[in-house]
Order: sequence, then structure tokens, then C-alpha cells
Amino acid sequence: MNALVINCSPVRDGATAEIVRITAAELAKSSDVKTICIDDYSFAFCKGCRSCHTTAVCVMNDDIPRIIAEFEQADIIVAVSPSYWADIPGQFKAFIDRCTPWCNTHEPHASISRGKKGFAIALRTGPSMRECERVISSIEHFYGHLEIECRGHLGLCSVECRDDVLPHKEEIVAFCREVVAPL
Ligand SMILES: Cc1cc2nc3c(=O)[nH]c(=O)nc-3n(C[C@H](O)[C@H](O)[C@H](O)COP(=O)(O)O)c2cc1C
Repeated sequence: MNALVINCSPVRDGATAEIVRITAAELAKSSDVKTICIDDYSFAFCKGCRSCHTTAVCVMNDDIPRIIAEFEQADIIVAVSPSYWADIPGQFKAFIDRCTPWCNTHEPHASISRGKKGFAIALRTGPSMRECERVISSIEHFYGHLEIECRGHLGLCSVECRDDVLPHKEEIVAFCREVVAPL
């Protein structure tokens, strides 16, 4: 089983990165794990030209196919995203917009292989889970249109920086057991 754990924050060594580290270490007990950070890649914003609605390919040529190649390799995808202004960070949203060639709302569209399982972990500084749910909903909306099956999510509140992750470690480890659990 191949697992891909994505740091959807532009911060490579922050709280999201710490959750990615814990998640990857736990999944590595039973899977081959690759971690990536959205900030490892260079890509432009979607221009909304809709060429991909008729061609299933993007007119731009940058790192988006490299990220999609990582999705293609994975059986399990875990997106870990902080709340930035009550939603996913702009860098991750820009990536999602550029996935329109793979979006199943138009024909023709590109496709990644079927059977992938998607999970979402949201974190935020504030105390209310409702905002985590909004972040999770953005990720699951994306998974749905790429036909990645949404299999579970976790919200973590009161997380501002790396050190705030430690009190949530057991919760994250328990969630990872669900990620690798058989059907
Ligand atoms: C630009 C920005 C916007 C943020 N907006 C929110 C917010 O709307 N609600 C919230 O609870 N936390 C917000 N936060 C806090 C982050 O969700 C929190 O610090 C998280 O742990 C950041 O993880 P990171 O450092 O790995 O990106 C924001 C942080 C930044 C940098």
C-alpha cells in the first residue's frame, strides 16, 4: 500500500508539518509513505480559460503534473491543511483550481486511477470545530471531483504552532489506525 501525505500549508516546518511527520511515521508501520509540501512545487494560478473543458489538458506547463503523478502512485492520500482565513491556504486552493483538467464535471476530462482512498486532517488556532469542518469540506469536495473516495477526517482545534500538536498526538495516531484499517 502506498500512502501520500500532503502538507497543504506553505510552512515547511510548522504545525501542519509536525502533523504530517506524526502521520507519516504511523502509516510507515504498514505502508510505503511519501510526504510532499505544496510549497515544494512551482505552478501558476488557473486562468479560467476553460480550454481543459474541451481538451482535458491545461494550456500551462509547470509542476502540476508532478503533483498529480504523486497522487497516481498513491493508494491512500492524506491531505493535512491548516485553516487560513477559515478555509484552505491559497497555495492549496491554487493547486485545486489547476486540477480542473481532472475534474469529472466536464467531458472529456483527464483521470487518475480509480480506487484511491482520501482522508483529510484540518487544524486551526481557534477553538471551534466548525471552521475545521469547512476546511475538511473543501478537501472532500476536491476528492469527490477526482473520484477519490472520502474515507475519514480529523479536525484539530487550538493548534497555533508545532508545540501545540503534542497534546493531539494520540488522537492523530488513532486516526492513522482508521486510515490503514481494512474495509
Ligand atoms: C494567513 C493565516 C491565516 C490564518 N487564519 C486562521 C483562521 O481563520 N482561523 C484559525 O483558527 N486559525 C487561522 N490561522 C492559524 C493557523 O490555522 C494555525 O496557526 C496553524 O497551526 C498553522 O499551521 P502552519 O504553520 O503549518 O501553516 C491562520 C494562520 C495564517 C498564517
